[in-house]
Amino acid sequence: MKREDIEKVLAELGELKCKTQKDVEDARVRFLGKKGEITALFDEFRTFDKEMKAEFGRTLNELKQTAQARIEELKATIGEGEVSEGPKHDLTMPGDPLELGSRHPVSIVRQEIVDIFRKFGYDVAEGPEVEDDYHVFEALNFPPNHPARDMQDTFFVSTGHPNPLLLRTHTSSVQVRAMENMHVPIRVICPGRVFRNEAISARAHCIFHQVEGLYIDENVTFADLKQAILLFAREMFGPETEIRMRPSYFPFTEPSAEVDVSCNICHGKGCNICKGTGWLEILGCGMVDPNVLEASGIDSKKYSGFAFGMGLERIAMLKWRVNDLRHYFENDMRFLKEFDTAVEV
Ligand code: PHE
Repeated sequence: MKREDIEKVLAELGELKCKTQKDVEDARVRFLGKKGEITALFDEFRTFDKEMKAEFGRTLNELKQTAQARIEELKATIGEGEVSEGPKHDLTMPGDPLELGSRHPVSIVRQEIVDIFRKFGYDVAEGPEVEDDYHVFEALNFPPNHPARDMQDTFFVSTGHPNPLLLRTHTSSVQVRAMENMHVPIRVICPGRVFRNEAISARAHCIFHQVEGLYIDENVTFADLKQAILLFAREMFGPETEIRMRPSYFPFTEPSAEVDVSCNICHGKGCNICKGTGWLEILGCGMVDPNVLEASGIDSKKYSGFAFGMGLERIAMLKWRVNDLRHYFENDMRFLKEFDTAVEV
């Protein structure tokens, strides 16, 4: 045995690196086990004479103590968690999925209608939901105390004022603003939320959505109105769709009509959706009353126009055969999730 043998083992101990408890145990066996390097040195030591024993005894004992201390230290500092080999976490595990929302059926229908009229060259206009009496009624040929105001039960925000604030009952108010601010020819559609003081039921709600349209130019006739509605109905409900017009009344249009489309469910045979008639009512329309044009400063001798308006919830109900309007407002996930795929069809 030489001094160098002992120094070599000491150096090995100094460089010893263990990652797991198993590495520590292997190191213990390597140095201190029955056939370990230090044990071997002791075996050799036993064969020494007195003189040699005196020379090596202390150093060898110190070596053994150093080795034991190092092994103990490693045992204590390497945590239990690191006993297993490989990374602590399973990096191949799938993550928690992020649930994506879907578009609301009313938004889907609004976008479809807006896209159709954009193709026809209409602009999109928006206006305030809290409006004044003038833009919702007065400028649309509803004089104060006119009985026609009863058609639309109104939520007033302020009263006792000649021009009270109220929640708009239709987006025709945006058409008035368009006539005030745009130059003729005007082609505009006005999507938006409207409010009426109505009892909530399967067929009515106090909040709903409309798209209204306005077309003003020289020589616009009822034939133009009919053609525009027919084209729209075929884009919206399919190329086979027919329309029919029934006389109606609105203070702001003269003549006025309600428009039905042929039932796209029974194709005119009669079913419970169209209540056996083969027709579904979708919108109101008419030629803009000259009084309305004049109120917004448009020369009614030179210009004429048509207007129309439809309820989005109703169109969505027909499109997806929803039987209760209240579903649109309750935000039940089971209902809302049905639609984004439906729109692809
Ligand atoms: N403003 C009407 C309503 O809310 C709809 C309509 C618009 C009718 C334009 C005719 C012309 O019911």
